[in-house]
Amino acid sequence: MDRTRRLRSSVAIRNMVREEHVRVDELIYPIFIMEGENICEPVDSMPGINQYSIDRLSEELDKVVEAGIQAVLVFGIPAHKDEVGSGAYAKEGIIPRGIRFIKDNYPTLLVVADVCLCEYTSHGHCGLIKDGEILNDETLPLLAKASVCYAEAGADIIAPSDMMDKRVGFIRNALDEAGFINIPIMAYSAKFASAYYGPFRDAAHSAPGFGDRKTYQMDPANGKEAMREVAEDLAEGADLIIAKPTMAYMDIIHAISEQFNVPIVAYNVSGEYAMVKAAAANGWIDEKKIVMENMIGFKRAGAKMIITYHALDVARWIKED
Ligand code: PBG
Ligand code: ZN
Repeated sequence: MDRTRRLRSSVAIRNMVREEHVRVDELIYPIFIMEGENICEPVDSMPGINQYSIDRLSEELDKVVEAGIQAVLVFGIPAHKDEVGSGAYAKEGIIPRGIRFIKDNYPTLLVVADVCLCEYTSHGHCGLIKDGEILNDETLPLLAKASVCYAEAGADIIAPSDMMDKRVGFIRNALDEAGFINIPIMAYSAKFASAYYGPFRDAAHSAPGFGDRKTYQMDPANGKEAMREVAEDLAEGADLIIAKPTMAYMDIIHAISEQFNVPIVAYNVSGEYAMVKAAAANGWIDEKKIVMENMIGFKRAGAKMIITYHALDVARWIKED
C-alpha cells in the first residue's frame, strides 16, 4: 500500500527526498541607483529597500557580497527626465556610471542591467510618445542604444523590460554589431500590466504620467499570449526569459517551463514584497517561513533563477538552515 507519510518521518528523510532547493547563486537582487550625493533613501512602500547614490552604494553591495549573492539587477533614477528619456542612453548617465563603479569595486559581481525608458521619460512611459500613443518601432533604436551603452560600461546581462514588440532582435543586432556577441539578453517576456508594480514605481519614480501600460504590457487574463511572447523573444535571440509577477502567475511560469527549454527567471515583484512585509510587520505571518515557501513555489513551478527584494534575507536564511 502506498503510504506517502513513510518519506516524511524525519528531518533527514525529508531532506533526502526534497525535490526542489533554493540556492543563493540563483538569486538576483534589485538595486536602485540614484543621481546625487550622500543618498540612502528608504522606499516607504518597500521596507528594507533604499535608493542609493553611487558614493554610498558600497553599503548595499558589501551586504550583497557578504551574503554570497552573485548577481544584482540595476535600476537608475536620473536627476532630470525628458520626453525622449535621454538619461537612459547617456554615456555619463546614472546607470553606466553605476555599472562602472560596481565593476571597478566588485569585479566578480554579475551586473544585470534593466533596459527601459520609463525611469527617464517625463511622461513615465516605457517608449516614445506621439499624440498620446506609445510608439513601438521608433522606441527600438533608443533601447538598443541604452543596451550598448550599458554593455560598454561593463554590464554582464542586458534585461529589456519595456515590452515593445521586436526589441529583443533589435537589441541583439545592436549588441552584436558593437562587438558584444557574448552578452546575454534576459528578456522580460511574460510581463503583465500589473498593479503589483506600484511600490516599484515609488522606488524608481517611474509611474506613468497619464493612462496606463495596458497597450504594451500583457493582459493578466492571457496565458496563451504569454507563450507567444516567449516564443517570439526566443526566436529573436533571448537567452533567458523573465516571467512577472509571480504569485498570481505561477501557471505562466509552469507553462513556460513545460513548453520551452530555456532558463526561466521568476521576478517576485515589488507589490508582492510589500504585501509580505506589511503582514510580517503586523505580526500576522511568519516572514521567513512565508518568504521561503514562496521561493520554493517559484522553483517548483519551473523557475531557475529568482529576482527578489528578499534576496539578502533569503541568502541568510538558506545559510542558517
Ligand atoms: C520598468 C520596470 C518595472 C518593473 C521592472 N522594470 C515597472 C513597470 O513596468 O512599471 C517592475 C518591478 C517591480 O514591481 O518590482 N519597465
Ligand atoms: Zn518601463
